[in-house]
Amino acid sequence: MAGRIPQQFIDDLLARADIVEVINSRVPLKKAGREYKACCPFHGEKTPSFTVSPDKGFYHCFGCGAHGTVIGFLMEFDRLEFVEAIEELAQMLGLEVPREQPGRAQPQSPVAPVYAILAAAAKRYQAALREHPPAVEYLRRRGLSGETARDFGLGYAPAGWDFLLRRLGDTPDGERQLKAAGLILPRDGGGYYDRFRERIMFPIRDSRGRVVGFGGRVLGDGEPKYLNSPETAVFHKGRELYGLYEARQANRRLARILVVEGYMDVASLAEHGVRNAVATLGTATTPEHLRRLFRATPEIVFCFDGDRAGREAAWRALENCLPEMRDGRQVRFLFLPEGEDPDSLVRREGTAGLEQRLTAARPLSDVLLDKLRDGIDLGSIDGRARLAELARPLLAKLPHGVYRELLTERVAEEVRLAPGKLDRLIGEAAAQRPRAPAPPRGEPQRPRLMRRAIQLLLHYPLIGAGGVPAALQPVSQKGAPLLRELLEITAANPDLKPAGLLERFRGRPEQPHLERLLAEDSLVRDADKAAVEFADCLQRIASSDREARLAALVAKAAEQELSDQEREELRELTRRSASGGR
Ligand code: UTP
Ligand code: MN
Repeated sequence: MAGRIPQQFIDDLLARADIVEVINSRVPLKKAGREYKACCPFHGEKTPSFTVSPDKGFYHCFGCGAHGTVIGFLMEFDRLEFVEAIEELAQMLGLEVPREQPGRAQPQSPVAPVYAILAAAAKRYQAALREHPPAVEYLRRRGLSGETARDFGLGYAPAGWDFLLRRLGDTPDGERQLKAAGLILPRDGGGYYDRFRERIMFPIRDSRGRVVGFGGRVLGDGEPKYLNSPETAVFHKGRELYGLYEARQANRRLARILVVEGYMDVASLAEHGVRNAVATLGTATTPEHLRRLFRATPEIVFCFDGDRAGREAAWRALENCLPEMRDGRQVRFLFLPEGEDPDSLVRREGTAGLEQRLTAARPLSDVLLDKLRDGIDLGSIDGRARLAELARPLLAKLPHGVYRELLTERVAEEVRLAPGKLDRLIGEAAAQRPRAPAPPRGEPQRPRLMRRAIQLLLHYPLIGAGGVPAALQPVSQKGAPLLRELLEITAANPDLKPAGLLERFRGRPEQPHLERLLAEDSLVRDADKAAVEFADCLQRIASSDREARLAALVAKAAEQELSDQEREELRELTRRSASGGR
Protein backbone atom coordinates (compact mmCIF):
# COMPACT_ATOMS: atom_id res chain seq x y z
CA MET A 1 0.00 0.00 0.00
CA ALA A 2 1.32 3.45 -0.87
CA GLY A 3 2.05 5.61 2.16
CA ARG A 4 0.36 8.88 2.92
CA ILE A 5 1.31 12.03 1.02
CA PRO A 6 2.97 14.34 3.56
CA GLN A 7 0.91 17.43 4.39
CA GLN A 8 3.99 19.57 3.86
CA PHE A 9 4.11 18.46 0.22
CA ILE A 10 0.47 19.40 -0.33
CA ASP A 11 1.13 22.81 1.24
CA ASP A 12 4.15 23.32 -1.05
CA LEU A 13 2.21 22.20 -4.07
CA LEU A 14 -0.55 24.70 -3.37
CA ALA A 15 1.96 27.46 -2.74
CA ARG A 16 3.71 26.79 -6.04
CA ALA A 17 0.83 25.92 -8.32
CA ASP A 18 -0.60 28.83 -10.25
CA ILE A 19 -4.35 28.32 -10.15
CA VAL A 20 -4.83 30.80 -13.00
CA GLU A 21 -2.44 28.90 -15.25
CA VAL A 22 -3.95 25.51 -14.42
CA ILE A 23 -7.52 26.63 -15.02
CA ASN A 24 -6.62 28.78 -18.03
CA SER A 25 -5.22 25.74 -19.83
CA ARG A 26 -8.66 24.15 -19.58
CA VAL A 27 -11.01 27.13 -19.54
CA PRO A 28 -9.59 30.29 -21.15
CA LEU A 29 -9.67 33.12 -18.61
CA LYS A 30 -9.84 36.91 -19.02
CA LYS A 31 -8.30 39.30 -16.53
CA ALA A 32 -10.75 41.47 -14.61
CA GLY A 33 -9.12 43.59 -11.92
CA ARG A 34 -7.37 41.39 -9.36
CA GLU A 35 -9.28 38.35 -10.56
CA TYR A 36 -9.89 36.37 -13.73
CA LYS A 37 -13.19 35.52 -15.35
CA ALA A 38 -14.74 33.01 -17.75
CA CYS A 39 -18.04 31.41 -18.60
CA CYS A 40 -18.48 28.71 -16.00
CA PRO A 41 -17.41 25.24 -17.18
CA PHE A 42 -19.78 23.63 -14.67
CA HIS A 43 -23.02 25.08 -15.96
CA GLY A 44 -24.15 26.60 -19.23
CA GLU A 45 -24.10 30.40 -19.29
CA LYS A 46 -23.63 33.26 -21.69
CA THR A 47 -22.20 35.94 -19.41
CA PRO A 48 -19.16 34.99 -17.30
CA SER A 49 -19.80 34.50 -13.59
CA PHE A 50 -16.90 32.11 -12.99
CA THR A 51 -14.06 33.92 -11.22
CA VAL A 52 -10.59 32.81 -10.22
CA SER A 53 -8.75 34.63 -7.45
CA PRO A 54 -4.97 34.12 -7.54
CA ASP A 55 -4.67 35.74 -4.09
CA LYS A 56 -6.94 33.21 -2.45
CA GLY A 57 -5.93 30.33 -4.71
CA PHE A 58 -9.65 29.76 -5.15
CA TYR A 59 -12.30 29.72 -7.88
CA HIS A 60 -15.96 30.54 -7.46
CA CYS A 61 -18.98 30.70 -9.74
CA PHE A 62 -21.66 33.19 -8.75
CA GLY A 63 -24.13 31.47 -11.04
CA CYS A 64 -24.08 27.85 -9.89
CA GLY A 65 -22.08 28.15 -6.68
CA ALA A 66 -19.26 25.82 -7.77
CA HIS A 67 -16.05 26.65 -5.92
CA GLY A 68 -12.80 25.24 -4.61
CA THR A 69 -9.01 25.21 -4.70
CA VAL A 70 -6.89 24.19 -7.66
CA ILE A 71 -7.01 20.63 -6.30
CA GLY A 72 -10.79 20.83 -6.11
CA PHE A 73 -10.89 22.17 -9.66
CA LEU A 74 -8.90 19.24 -11.03
CA MET A 75 -11.12 16.83 -9.11
CA GLU A 76 -14.27 18.38 -10.56
CA PHE A 77 -13.13 19.29 -14.06
CA ASP A 78 -10.83 16.35 -14.84
CA ARG A 79 -12.95 14.09 -12.61
CA LEU A 80 -10.04 12.91 -10.52
CA GLU A 81 -9.90 11.51 -7.03
CA PHE A 82 -7.92 13.53 -4.52
CA VAL A 83 -4.65 11.60 -4.89
CA GLU A 84 -4.89 11.69 -8.67
CA ALA A 85 -5.37 15.46 -8.58
CA ILE A 86 -2.25 15.79 -6.43
CA GLU A 87 -0.32 13.62 -8.86
CA GLU A 88 -1.54 15.63 -11.84
CA LEU A 89 -0.55 18.90 -10.21
CA ALA A 90 2.85 17.55 -9.19
CA GLN A 91 3.46 16.39 -12.73
CA MET A 92 2.67 19.84 -14.13
CA LEU A 93 5.25 21.28 -11.77
CA GLY A 94 7.74 18.53 -12.51
CA LEU A 95 7.68 17.20 -8.95
CA GLU A 96 7.72 13.67 -7.63
CA VAL A 97 4.97 12.89 -5.08
CA PRO A 98 6.73 11.71 -1.91
CA ARG A 99 5.12 9.07 0.28
CA GLU A 100 5.55 8.56 3.97
CA GLN A 101 7.09 5.21 4.79
CA PRO A 102 4.64 3.30 6.92
CA GLY A 103 6.23 2.16 10.17
CA ARG A 104 8.97 4.80 10.22
CA ALA A 105 9.35 6.98 13.27
CA GLN A 106 7.27 9.93 12.15
CA PRO A 107 4.02 11.34 13.37
CA GLN A 108 1.40 8.78 12.43
CA SER A 109 -2.24 9.69 12.24
CA PRO A 110 -4.28 8.10 15.00
CA VAL A 111 -6.34 6.16 12.44
CA ALA A 112 -3.37 4.49 10.74
CA PRO A 113 -3.50 1.45 13.08
CA VAL A 114 -7.24 1.11 12.42
CA TYR A 115 -6.62 0.81 8.68
CA ALA A 116 -3.85 -1.67 9.42
CA ILE A 117 -6.03 -3.92 11.55
CA LEU A 118 -8.84 -3.82 8.97
CA ALA A 119 -6.38 -4.87 6.26
CA ALA A 120 -5.09 -7.67 8.49
CA ALA A 121 -8.64 -8.84 9.23
CA ALA A 122 -9.50 -8.89 5.52
CA LYS A 123 -6.48 -11.10 4.89
CA ARG A 124 -7.47 -13.52 7.66
CA TYR A 125 -11.01 -13.75 6.30
CA GLN A 126 -9.69 -14.43 2.80
CA ALA A 127 -7.43 -17.19 4.06
CA ALA A 128 -10.30 -18.69 6.06
CA LEU A 129 -12.49 -18.79 2.93
CA ARG A 130 -10.05 -21.18 1.26
CA GLU A 131 -10.16 -23.43 4.30
CA HIS A 132 -13.95 -23.68 4.57
CA PRO A 133 -15.43 -25.66 1.67
CA PRO A 134 -19.07 -24.90 2.60
CA ALA A 135 -18.36 -21.17 2.22
CA VAL A 136 -16.68 -21.70 -1.15
CA GLU A 137 -19.59 -23.90 -2.18
CA TYR A 138 -22.05 -21.14 -1.20
CA LEU A 139 -20.32 -18.59 -3.44
CA ARG A 140 -20.14 -21.10 -6.27
CA ARG A 141 -23.87 -21.79 -5.94
CA ARG A 142 -24.49 -18.06 -6.17
CA GLY A 143 -22.60 -18.05 -9.42
CA LEU A 144 -19.43 -16.29 -8.31
CA SER A 145 -16.09 -17.46 -9.68
CA GLY A 146 -12.81 -17.53 -7.79
CA GLU A 147 -11.66 -14.64 -9.93
CA THR A 148 -14.50 -12.37 -8.85
CA ALA A 149 -14.04 -13.45 -5.23
CA ARG A 150 -10.41 -12.41 -5.56
CA ASP A 151 -11.17 -9.07 -7.27
CA PHE A 152 -13.52 -8.14 -4.46
CA GLY A 153 -11.37 -9.66 -1.72
CA LEU A 154 -14.24 -11.83 -0.50
CA GLY A 155 -13.58 -13.86 2.64
CA TYR A 156 -15.19 -15.92 5.34
CA ALA A 157 -15.59 -15.33 9.07
CA PRO A 158 -15.62 -18.82 10.62
CA ALA A 159 -17.89 -19.95 13.43
CA GLY A 160 -16.75 -19.44 17.01
CA TRP A 161 -16.42 -16.30 19.06
CA ASP A 162 -12.75 -15.49 18.83
CA PHE A 163 -11.42 -16.14 15.32
CA LEU A 164 -10.06 -12.59 14.99
CA LEU A 165 -9.55 -12.01 18.69
CA ARG A 166 -7.18 -14.94 18.98
CA ARG A 167 -5.19 -13.98 15.89
CA LEU A 168 -5.12 -10.19 16.03
CA GLY A 169 -6.31 -9.26 19.52
CA ASP A 170 -3.81 -11.06 21.72
CA THR A 171 -2.12 -7.82 22.81
CA PRO A 172 -3.74 -4.81 24.49
CA ASP A 173 -2.93 -2.75 21.37
CA GLY A 174 -4.46 -5.32 19.05
CA GLU A 175 -7.57 -5.52 21.16
CA ARG A 176 -7.91 -1.75 21.20
CA GLN A 177 -7.60 -1.56 17.42
CA LEU A 178 -10.06 -4.38 16.79
CA LYS A 179 -12.51 -2.46 18.93
CA ALA A 180 -11.84 0.84 17.16
CA ALA A 181 -12.39 -0.94 13.85
CA GLY A 182 -15.75 -2.28 15.03
CA LEU A 183 -14.63 -5.89 14.67
CA ILE A 184 -15.20 -7.01 18.27
CA LEU A 185 -17.91 -6.35 20.85
CA PRO A 186 -17.73 -6.29 24.66
CA ARG A 187 -18.95 -9.47 26.31
CA ASP A 188 -21.17 -9.42 29.40
CA GLY A 189 -18.91 -10.01 32.36
CA GLY A 190 -15.74 -8.76 30.66
CA GLY A 191 -13.72 -9.47 27.57
CA TYR A 192 -14.77 -9.33 23.95
CA TYR A 193 -16.13 -11.47 21.12
CA ASP A 194 -15.95 -11.30 17.32
CA ARG A 195 -18.72 -9.31 15.67
CA PHE A 196 -18.70 -11.36 12.46
CA ARG A 197 -19.19 -15.13 12.68
CA GLU A 198 -20.20 -17.70 10.07
CA ARG A 199 -20.57 -15.10 7.38
CA ILE A 200 -19.30 -14.44 3.87
CA MET A 201 -17.28 -11.28 4.24
CA PHE A 202 -17.39 -8.39 1.74
CA PRO A 203 -14.61 -5.90 2.47
CA ILE A 204 -15.67 -2.29 1.81
CA ARG A 205 -12.84 -0.25 0.33
CA ASP A 206 -12.46 3.52 0.19
CA SER A 207 -11.38 5.45 -2.89
CA ARG A 208 -7.74 4.59 -2.23
CA GLY A 209 -8.47 0.90 -1.90
CA ARG A 210 -8.08 0.75 1.87
CA VAL A 211 -10.47 -1.55 3.69
CA VAL A 212 -12.66 0.62 5.91
CA GLY A 213 -15.35 -1.87 6.96
CA PHE A 214 -17.15 -5.08 6.11
CA GLY A 215 -20.53 -6.45 5.17
CA GLY A 216 -21.12 -10.02 6.24
CA ARG A 217 -23.79 -12.33 4.78
CA VAL A 218 -25.07 -15.44 6.54
CA LEU A 219 -24.49 -18.65 4.63
CA GLY A 220 -28.07 -19.72 4.74
CA ASP A 221 -31.25 -18.21 6.11
CA GLY A 222 -30.14 -16.63 9.40
CA GLU A 223 -31.02 -13.24 10.80
CA PRO A 224 -29.92 -10.63 10.11
CA LYS A 225 -29.13 -11.54 6.53
CA TYR A 226 -26.42 -8.91 6.30
CA LEU A 227 -24.42 -7.55 9.18
CA ASN A 228 -22.41 -4.39 8.57
CA SER A 229 -19.51 -2.72 10.32
CA PRO A 230 -20.65 0.09 12.61
CA GLU A 231 -19.66 3.68 11.90
CA THR A 232 -16.05 4.15 13.00
CA ALA A 233 -13.36 6.80 12.63
CA VAL A 234 -12.64 5.48 9.14
CA PHE A 235 -16.06 4.17 8.04
CA HIS A 236 -19.03 6.37 7.25
CA LYS A 237 -21.95 4.73 5.49
CA GLY A 238 -23.14 8.04 4.09
CA ARG A 239 -19.86 8.45 2.24
CA GLU A 240 -18.69 5.04 1.08
CA LEU A 241 -20.00 3.20 -1.94
CA TYR A 242 -19.42 -0.52 -2.16
CA GLY A 243 -17.69 -1.41 -5.41
CA LEU A 244 -16.60 2.07 -6.50
CA TYR A 245 -12.94 1.32 -5.94
CA GLU A 246 -13.23 -1.97 -7.83
CA ALA A 247 -15.14 -0.30 -10.67
CA ARG A 248 -12.45 2.33 -11.04
CA GLN A 249 -9.77 -0.33 -10.97
CA ALA A 250 -11.50 -2.06 -13.86
CA ASN A 251 -11.93 1.16 -15.82
CA ARG A 252 -10.48 4.59 -15.10
CA ARG A 253 -13.05 6.47 -17.17
CA LEU A 254 -16.51 5.19 -16.42
CA ALA A 255 -19.08 6.33 -18.98
CA ARG A 256 -21.81 5.32 -16.57
CA ILE A 257 -22.25 3.93 -13.07
CA LEU A 258 -25.12 1.74 -11.93
CA VAL A 259 -26.27 2.21 -8.37
CA VAL A 260 -27.78 -0.96 -6.94
CA GLU A 261 -28.85 -2.04 -3.48
CA GLY A 262 -26.78 -5.04 -2.51
CA TYR A 263 -23.25 -6.32 -2.14
CA MET A 264 -24.25 -9.46 -3.97
CA ASP A 265 -25.69 -7.44 -6.86
CA VAL A 266 -22.36 -5.66 -7.35
CA ALA A 267 -20.34 -8.89 -7.25
CA SER A 268 -22.76 -10.81 -9.46
CA LEU A 269 -22.87 -8.04 -12.09
CA ALA A 270 -19.07 -7.97 -12.14
CA GLU A 271 -19.10 -11.72 -12.64
CA HIS A 272 -21.16 -11.10 -15.77
CA GLY A 273 -18.76 -8.47 -17.02
CA VAL A 274 -20.78 -5.49 -15.81
CA ARG A 275 -18.00 -3.84 -13.85
CA ASN A 276 -19.51 -0.44 -13.25
CA ALA A 277 -21.99 -1.15 -10.44
CA VAL A 278 -21.81 0.22 -6.91
CA ALA A 279 -24.06 -0.21 -3.88
CA THR A 280 -24.99 2.13 -1.08
CA LEU A 281 -24.56 0.39 2.25
CA GLY A 282 -28.14 -0.19 3.31
CA THR A 283 -28.73 3.58 3.40
CA ALA A 284 -30.35 6.10 1.09
CA THR A 285 -28.15 7.86 -1.46
CA THR A 286 -26.65 10.91 0.22
CA PRO A 287 -25.48 14.16 -1.40
CA GLU A 288 -21.94 13.07 -0.50
CA HIS A 289 -22.46 9.81 -2.45
CA LEU A 290 -23.65 11.80 -5.44
CA ARG A 291 -20.68 14.12 -5.41
CA ARG A 292 -18.35 11.14 -5.37
CA LEU A 293 -20.26 9.41 -8.14
CA PHE A 294 -20.30 12.45 -10.39
CA ARG A 295 -16.60 12.83 -9.85
CA ALA A 296 -16.19 9.38 -11.36
CA THR A 297 -18.75 9.50 -14.17
CA PRO A 298 -21.13 11.80 -16.06
CA GLU A 299 -24.05 9.36 -15.92
CA ILE A 300 -25.72 7.56 -13.03
CA VAL A 301 -28.37 4.89 -13.46
CA PHE A 302 -30.22 3.97 -10.28
CA CYS A 303 -31.70 0.48 -10.07
CA PHE A 304 -34.65 0.28 -7.72
CA ASP A 305 -37.36 -2.23 -7.01
CA GLY A 306 -40.51 -1.48 -8.96
CA ASP A 307 -42.62 -1.68 -5.80
CA ARG A 308 -43.86 1.17 -3.67
CA ALA A 309 -40.82 1.24 -1.37
CA GLY A 310 -38.55 1.27 -4.41
CA ARG A 311 -40.39 4.20 -5.94
CA GLU A 312 -40.17 6.13 -2.72
CA ALA A 313 -36.45 5.45 -2.46
CA ALA A 314 -36.05 6.57 -6.07
CA TRP A 315 -37.83 9.81 -5.32
CA ARG A 316 -35.54 10.54 -2.38
CA ALA A 317 -32.51 9.87 -4.57
CA LEU A 318 -33.98 12.09 -7.28
CA GLU A 319 -34.47 15.00 -4.90
CA ASN A 320 -30.85 14.72 -3.78
CA CYS A 321 -29.72 14.67 -7.40
CA LEU A 322 -31.35 17.96 -8.37
CA PRO A 323 -28.65 20.30 -7.01
CA GLU A 324 -26.02 18.18 -8.76
CA MET A 325 -27.60 18.29 -12.22
CA ARG A 326 -25.02 20.43 -13.93
CA ASP A 327 -24.97 20.44 -17.71
CA GLY A 328 -23.50 17.28 -19.17
CA ARG A 329 -24.61 15.13 -16.26
CA GLN A 330 -27.32 12.55 -16.58
CA VAL A 331 -29.40 10.56 -14.11
CA ARG A 332 -31.74 7.74 -15.07
CA PHE A 333 -33.85 5.22 -13.22
CA LEU A 334 -34.29 1.55 -13.91
CA PHE A 335 -37.28 0.03 -12.13
CA LEU A 336 -36.90 -3.72 -11.76
CA PRO A 337 -39.70 -6.21 -12.29
CA GLU A 338 -41.46 -7.52 -9.18
CA GLY A 339 -39.30 -9.86 -7.14
CA GLU A 340 -36.11 -9.31 -9.13
CA ASP A 341 -32.84 -7.70 -8.19
CA PRO A 342 -29.92 -6.94 -10.52
CA ASP A 343 -28.29 -10.22 -9.48
CA SER A 344 -31.27 -12.39 -10.35
CA LEU A 345 -31.92 -10.39 -13.49
CA VAL A 346 -28.46 -10.70 -14.95
CA ARG A 347 -28.44 -14.39 -14.15
CA ARG A 348 -31.80 -14.91 -15.86
CA GLU A 349 -31.53 -12.56 -18.81
CA GLY A 350 -27.77 -12.32 -19.21
CA THR A 351 -25.77 -9.20 -19.91
CA ALA A 352 -27.67 -8.54 -23.12
CA GLY A 353 -31.02 -8.49 -21.33
CA LEU A 354 -29.68 -6.17 -18.70
CA GLU A 355 -28.14 -3.84 -21.29
CA GLN A 356 -31.48 -3.66 -23.03
CA ARG A 357 -33.23 -2.65 -19.84
CA LEU A 358 -30.51 -0.10 -19.12
CA THR A 359 -31.01 1.53 -22.49
CA ALA A 360 -34.67 1.88 -21.64
CA ALA A 361 -34.04 3.30 -18.16
CA ARG A 362 -36.10 6.44 -17.63
CA PRO A 363 -34.48 9.88 -17.46
CA LEU A 364 -34.79 11.88 -14.26
CA SER A 365 -37.03 14.42 -16.00
CA ASP A 366 -39.60 11.71 -16.90
CA VAL A 367 -39.66 10.30 -13.39
CA LEU A 368 -40.00 13.77 -11.95
CA LEU A 369 -42.91 14.70 -14.20
CA ASP A 370 -44.65 11.37 -13.60
CA LYS A 371 -44.50 11.86 -9.89
CA LEU A 372 -45.76 15.44 -10.15
CA ARG A 373 -48.61 14.43 -12.44
CA ASP A 374 -49.64 11.65 -10.07
CA GLY A 375 -53.22 12.22 -8.97
CA ILE A 376 -53.46 15.58 -10.73
CA ASP A 377 -56.09 16.42 -13.34
CA LEU A 378 -54.21 18.34 -15.98
CA GLY A 379 -57.48 19.09 -17.78
CA SER A 380 -58.39 21.57 -15.08
CA ILE A 381 -56.81 24.93 -14.30
CA ASP A 382 -56.63 23.94 -10.65
CA GLY A 383 -54.68 20.82 -11.52
CA ARG A 384 -52.21 22.68 -13.71
CA ALA A 385 -51.71 25.36 -11.07
CA ARG A 386 -51.08 22.64 -8.51
CA LEU A 387 -48.46 21.00 -10.73
CA ALA A 388 -46.70 24.32 -11.29
CA GLU A 389 -46.78 24.84 -7.54
CA LEU A 390 -45.22 21.41 -6.87
CA ALA A 391 -42.61 21.83 -9.59
CA ARG A 392 -41.43 25.28 -8.55
CA PRO A 393 -39.32 24.40 -5.50
CA LEU A 394 -37.86 21.36 -7.29
CA LEU A 395 -36.82 23.30 -10.39
CA ALA A 396 -35.37 25.97 -8.14
CA LYS A 397 -32.93 23.40 -6.77
CA LEU A 398 -31.37 22.83 -10.18
CA PRO A 399 -28.19 24.75 -10.92
CA HIS A 400 -28.58 27.39 -13.63
CA GLY A 401 -27.89 26.05 -17.06
CA VAL A 402 -29.29 24.44 -20.15
CA TYR A 403 -30.69 21.47 -18.25
CA ARG A 404 -32.69 23.69 -15.95
CA GLU A 405 -33.99 25.68 -18.90
CA LEU A 406 -35.10 22.57 -20.75
CA LEU A 407 -36.80 21.03 -17.78
CA THR A 408 -38.52 24.32 -16.99
CA GLU A 409 -39.76 24.42 -20.56
CA ARG A 410 -41.19 20.93 -20.23
CA VAL A 411 -43.04 21.75 -17.06
CA ALA A 412 -44.25 24.98 -18.63
CA GLU A 413 -45.61 23.01 -21.58
CA GLU A 414 -47.34 20.65 -19.21
CA VAL A 415 -49.12 23.46 -17.38
CA ARG A 416 -49.48 25.52 -20.59
CA LEU A 417 -47.66 28.52 -19.23
CA ALA A 418 -45.04 30.58 -21.09
CA PRO A 419 -41.60 29.33 -19.93
CA GLY A 420 -40.51 32.87 -19.02
CA LYS A 421 -43.45 33.19 -16.70
CA LEU A 422 -42.73 29.92 -14.91
CA ASP A 423 -39.10 30.95 -14.69
CA ARG A 424 -40.03 34.09 -12.80
CA LEU A 425 -42.14 32.04 -10.43
CA ILE A 426 -39.17 29.72 -9.82
CA GLY A 427 -36.97 32.72 -9.11
CA GLU A 428 -39.43 33.69 -6.40
CA ALA A 429 -39.40 30.17 -4.98
CA ALA A 430 -35.62 30.28 -4.76
CA ALA A 431 -35.72 33.67 -3.07
CA GLN A 432 -38.23 32.40 -0.54
CA ARG A 433 -36.00 29.61 0.69
CA PRO A 434 -35.78 29.90 4.46
CA ARG A 435 -32.93 32.06 5.62
CA ALA A 436 -31.36 32.02 9.04
CA PRO A 437 -33.46 34.27 11.25
CA ALA A 438 -31.88 37.61 12.05
CA PRO A 439 -30.49 37.73 15.58
CA PRO A 440 -32.53 39.83 18.01
CA ARG A 441 -31.34 43.40 18.01
CA GLY A 442 -29.38 44.77 20.93
CA GLU A 443 -27.84 41.44 21.93
CA PRO A 444 -24.21 40.82 21.03
CA GLN A 445 -24.21 38.89 17.79
CA ARG A 446 -21.82 36.19 18.80
CA PRO A 447 -22.37 33.72 15.95
CA ARG A 448 -21.92 36.54 13.48
CA LEU A 449 -18.66 37.59 15.13
CA MET A 450 -17.36 34.04 15.17
CA ARG A 451 -18.26 33.59 11.53
CA ARG A 452 -16.52 36.82 10.65
CA ALA A 453 -13.37 35.94 12.61
CA ILE A 454 -13.11 32.59 10.83
CA GLN A 455 -13.72 34.26 7.49
CA LEU A 456 -11.01 36.87 8.01
CA LEU A 457 -8.54 34.22 9.08
CA LEU A 458 -9.32 32.12 6.01
CA HIS A 459 -8.81 35.06 3.68
CA TYR A 460 -5.65 36.25 5.46
CA PRO A 461 -4.01 33.27 7.21
CA LEU A 462 -1.06 35.49 8.08
CA ILE A 463 -3.10 37.30 10.76
CA GLY A 464 -3.25 34.03 12.71
CA ALA A 465 0.53 33.67 12.97
CA GLY A 466 0.38 34.43 16.69
CA GLY A 467 -1.67 31.31 17.47
CA VAL A 468 -4.54 31.09 19.93
CA PRO A 469 -4.78 34.12 22.23
CA ALA A 470 -5.31 33.34 25.92
CA ALA A 471 -8.68 35.10 25.96
CA LEU A 472 -9.98 32.68 23.33
CA GLN A 473 -8.94 29.53 25.20
CA PRO A 474 -11.96 29.21 27.50
CA VAL A 475 -14.57 30.31 24.92
CA SER A 476 -17.10 27.55 24.45
CA GLN A 477 -19.55 28.94 21.90
CA LYS A 478 -20.21 27.20 18.62
CA GLY A 479 -17.33 27.61 16.20
CA ALA A 480 -14.73 28.27 18.89
CA PRO A 481 -12.99 24.88 18.55
CA LEU A 482 -12.80 25.40 14.79
CA LEU A 483 -11.34 28.88 15.19
CA ARG A 484 -8.77 27.54 17.66
CA GLU A 485 -7.85 24.72 15.31
CA LEU A 486 -7.41 27.18 12.43
CA LEU A 487 -5.21 29.37 14.60
CA GLU A 488 -3.06 26.42 15.60
CA ILE A 489 -2.53 25.59 11.94
CA THR A 490 -1.73 29.18 10.94
CA ALA A 491 0.68 29.56 13.85
CA ALA A 492 2.56 26.43 12.83
CA ASN A 493 2.52 27.31 9.11
CA PRO A 494 2.84 31.06 8.70
CA ASP A 495 3.29 30.79 4.90
CA LEU A 496 0.00 29.06 4.28
CA LYS A 497 -2.23 30.55 1.58
CA PRO A 498 -6.03 30.51 1.93
CA ALA A 499 -6.25 27.48 -0.38
CA GLY A 500 -3.68 25.60 1.72
CA LEU A 501 -5.56 26.32 4.93
CA LEU A 502 -8.77 25.16 3.32
CA GLU A 503 -7.22 21.93 2.00
CA ARG A 504 -6.40 20.90 5.59
CA PHE A 505 -10.13 20.36 6.03
CA ARG A 506 -10.78 18.26 2.93
CA GLY A 507 -13.29 15.51 3.66
CA ARG A 508 -14.22 16.96 7.04
CA PRO A 509 -17.74 18.15 7.87
CA GLU A 510 -16.43 21.73 8.18
CA GLN A 511 -15.17 21.80 4.58
CA PRO A 512 -18.32 23.11 2.84
CA HIS A 513 -18.80 25.79 5.47
CA LEU A 514 -15.20 26.98 5.15
CA GLU A 515 -15.44 26.97 1.36
CA ARG A 516 -18.50 29.18 1.48
CA LEU A 517 -16.71 31.62 3.77
CA LEU A 518 -13.75 31.81 1.43
CA ALA A 519 -15.98 32.14 -1.63
CA GLU A 520 -17.57 35.26 -0.19
CA ASP A 521 -15.90 38.62 -0.63
CA SER A 522 -14.13 39.46 2.64
CA LEU A 523 -14.63 43.19 1.90
CA VAL A 524 -11.21 44.04 3.31
CA ARG A 525 -8.43 44.65 0.86
CA ASP A 526 -5.25 44.04 2.83
CA ALA A 527 -3.87 41.98 5.67
CA ASP A 528 -3.32 44.99 7.95
CA LYS A 529 -6.95 45.99 7.87
CA ALA A 530 -7.95 42.35 8.29
CA ALA A 531 -5.69 42.02 11.34
CA VAL A 532 -7.27 45.04 13.02
CA GLU A 533 -10.79 43.77 12.46
CA PHE A 534 -9.80 40.24 13.48
CA ALA A 535 -8.38 41.43 16.81
CA ASP A 536 -11.55 43.40 17.41
CA CYS A 537 -13.70 40.33 16.67
CA LEU A 538 -11.69 38.17 19.06
CA GLN A 539 -11.93 40.72 21.81
CA ARG A 540 -15.68 41.03 21.41
CA ILE A 541 -16.14 37.28 21.26
CA ALA A 542 -14.13 36.81 24.45
CA SER A 543 -15.94 39.54 26.34
CA SER A 544 -19.42 38.46 25.29
CA ASP A 545 -18.48 34.90 26.24
CA ARG A 546 -17.50 36.13 29.70
CA GLU A 547 -20.77 38.01 30.00
CA ALA A 548 -22.75 34.94 29.00
CA ARG A 549 -20.93 32.79 31.55
CA LEU A 550 -21.35 35.44 34.21
CA ALA A 551 -25.09 35.63 33.54
CA ALA A 552 -25.37 31.84 33.65
CA LEU A 553 -23.53 31.62 36.95
CA VAL A 554 -25.56 34.41 38.52
CA ALA A 555 -28.76 32.68 37.43
CA LYS A 556 -27.53 29.38 38.79
CA ALA A 557 -26.50 30.95 42.10
CA ALA A 558 -30.05 32.21 42.52
CA GLU A 559 -31.35 28.64 42.23
CA GLN A 560 -28.76 26.51 43.96
CA GLU A 561 -25.48 26.36 45.83
CA LEU A 562 -22.46 26.88 43.55
CA SER A 563 -19.44 24.62 43.72
CA ASP A 564 -16.17 26.08 44.98
CA GLN A 565 -14.84 26.17 41.45
CA GLU A 566 -17.93 27.96 40.18
CA ARG A 567 -17.74 30.50 42.99
CA GLU A 568 -14.12 31.16 42.11
CA GLU A 569 -15.03 31.63 38.46
CA LEU A 570 -17.88 33.95 39.39
CA ARG A 571 -15.52 36.11 41.46
CA GLU A 572 -13.02 36.29 38.63
CA LEU A 573 -15.67 37.14 36.04
CA THR A 574 -17.19 39.84 38.26
CA ARG A 575 -13.78 41.37 38.78
CA ARG A 576 -13.07 41.45 35.05
CA SER A 577 -16.49 42.77 34.23
CA ALA A 578 -16.03 45.61 36.73
CA SER A 579 -12.63 46.48 35.25
CA GLY A 580 -14.08 46.62 31.74
CA GLY A 581 -12.99 43.21 30.57
CA ARG A 582 -9.26 43.47 31.17
P1 UTP B 1 -31.33 -7.49 0.16
O1 UTP B 1 -32.13 -8.10 1.22
O2 UTP B 1 -32.02 -7.01 -1.09
O3 UTP B 1 -30.25 -8.55 -0.16
O4 UTP B 1 -30.50 -6.33 0.77
P2 UTP B 1 -29.50 -8.95 -1.49
O5 UTP B 1 -28.47 -7.94 -1.79
O6 UTP B 1 -30.45 -9.32 -2.55
O7 UTP B 1 -28.74 -10.20 -0.92
P3 UTP B 1 -28.82 -11.67 -1.34
O8 UTP B 1 -28.94 -11.68 -2.82
O9 UTP B 1 -29.99 -12.28 -0.65
O10 UTP B 1 -27.52 -12.19 -0.83
C1 UTP B 1 -29.85 -5.34 0.03
C2 UTP B 1 -28.82 -4.64 0.87
O11 UTP B 1 -29.41 -4.13 2.06
C3 UTP B 1 -28.52 -4.24 3.15
C4 UTP B 1 -27.24 -4.79 2.58
O12 UTP B 1 -26.40 -3.70 2.24
C5 UTP B 1 -27.71 -5.54 1.37
O13 UTP B 1 -26.69 -5.73 0.42
N1 UTP B 1 -29.03 -5.17 4.19
C6 UTP B 1 -29.96 -6.11 3.90
C7 UTP B 1 -28.53 -5.07 5.45
O14 UTP B 1 -27.69 -4.22 5.74
N2 UTP B 1 -28.98 -5.94 6.42
C8 UTP B 1 -29.88 -6.91 6.15
O15 UTP B 1 -30.22 -7.70 7.06
C9 UTP B 1 -30.39 -6.99 4.86
MN1 MN C 1 -30.25 -10.68 -4.03
